[in-house]
Amino acid sequence: MTDVLVHDATELVVGPDKGSLNRIENGAVAIEDGTVVAVGPTETVRSQHPNATQCIDASGQTVLPGFVDPHTHALFAGDRSDEFVARIEGKSYNEIMDAGGGIAVTVEAIRETSDEELLANLLAQLDVMLEHGTTTAEVKSGYGLDTQTELRMLDTIQTADEQHPIDLIPTFMGAHAVPAEMETDAYVEEVVEEQLPAVAEQGVAEFCDVFCEEGVFDVEQSRRILVAGREHGLDPKIHAEEFTRIGGAQLAAELEAASADHLLSANEADANSLVEAGVVPTLLPATAFSLDEPYADAETFLDVDAPVALGSDLNPSCFVHSMGLVVSLACLRMKMQPDEAVLGATANAAAAIGQADGVGTLQEGTQADLTIFDLPSLVHIPYNAGTNRVEKVLKAGELVVDDGQRTGRSVATQEVPDDE
Ligand code: NIG
Ligand code: FE
Repeated sequence: MTDVLVHDATELVVGPDKGSLNRIENGAVAIEDGTVVAVGPTETVRSQHPNATQCIDASGQTVLPGFVDPHTHALFAGDRSDEFVARIEGKSYNEIMDAGGGIAVTVEAIRETSDEELLANLLAQLDVMLEHGTTTAEVKSGYGLDTQTELRMLDTIQTADEQHPIDLIPTFMGAHAVPAEMETDAYVEEVVEEQLPAVAEQGVAEFCDVFCEEGVFDVEQSRRILVAGREHGLDPKIHAEEFTRIGGAQLAAELEAASADHLLSANEADANSLVEAGVVPTLLPATAFSLDEPYADAETFLDVDAPVALGSDLNPSCFVHSMGLVVSLACLRMKMQPDEAVLGATANAAAAIGQADGVGTLQEGTQADLTIFDLPSLVHIPYNAGTNRVEKVLKAGELVVDDGQRTGRSVATQEVPDDE
């Protein structure tokens, strides 16, 4: 029995087929037990599935696979809005970090935050992401920088995954920064000898990530951490060539990492190496936007047929939850075509986090994660830059956003005072 039939979508986006998306006019999706059982023109799908329990009329609307956000630091605490103002006044990310701001501020805040509050923080960020159409997201640890707090972060991510409709893919990123109290080599030793074994034993994390950057972790230190991570069963990911080109992309290729992320200063040789090694280049235009840095050169990657993925990089210095805005920035600032950008925010993003088989695409057998925009075509998504036109979200066939609002969330009721 068909549970849900989404029908008459002005544009239904499926695929990819040979690397590009297919758009079906007047399309429909039939869903059973949380799984897509048919996609195609409404007439065809309706004749195969005539008695759906729930019908959703998507006329005038565009149906996409739910966005997959493959790079977030969505679990944080504290408030760094002062850095936003400092950046407007001309301070760079590194200047702010050198003056004791940046990641260190969030680390201190996280260490002082209770487990309950950490969970509430993450759930609140996830609600905003869901209302913007994200149905699967990677979330990194990396604001603990000691074994106990890193484990606490991963535990919180696991609990949020159990409680929230967004599916979460957890990444251990103990090597996000060097804690103020330590030398880099001693900290690398701690990550390898103490944190990684504990993380592996806890069994939550799927990936291990490193901030490979001048003044943070160099290539040698990053290699050591990622190789050790792999020995503990965690696939490598890397923040590479963000501010300076120091060899992180080549390291990603050498290790056949799942993804290399940022890549603002990567070049053609890097793009070739990544493609040959099957590493997904993950570009984060909202970071360049927030930090006022030059954007990654998407063309270099697209020219060599790399499966370019897009992510939000949501974190306290890049307060962007919206993959729709990321897609707009990719089009407007990195000159990606709307199809390429949407592919980057769905199927290619899923590949960047090892989820290519189940999500990021709509076809028979995939999870029924759908985002429905109150817009007439895919092109209107980036065209409407900065406005949220998500009307509905279905997660595994369940309506979790309706009329732009998260469904089923308990709304705190306000006491109405007696009017005597
Ligand atoms: O991906 N580059 C390093 N880490 C984050 C920023 C984290 C922060 O500023 O809190 C990033 O941009
Ligand atoms: Fe990041």
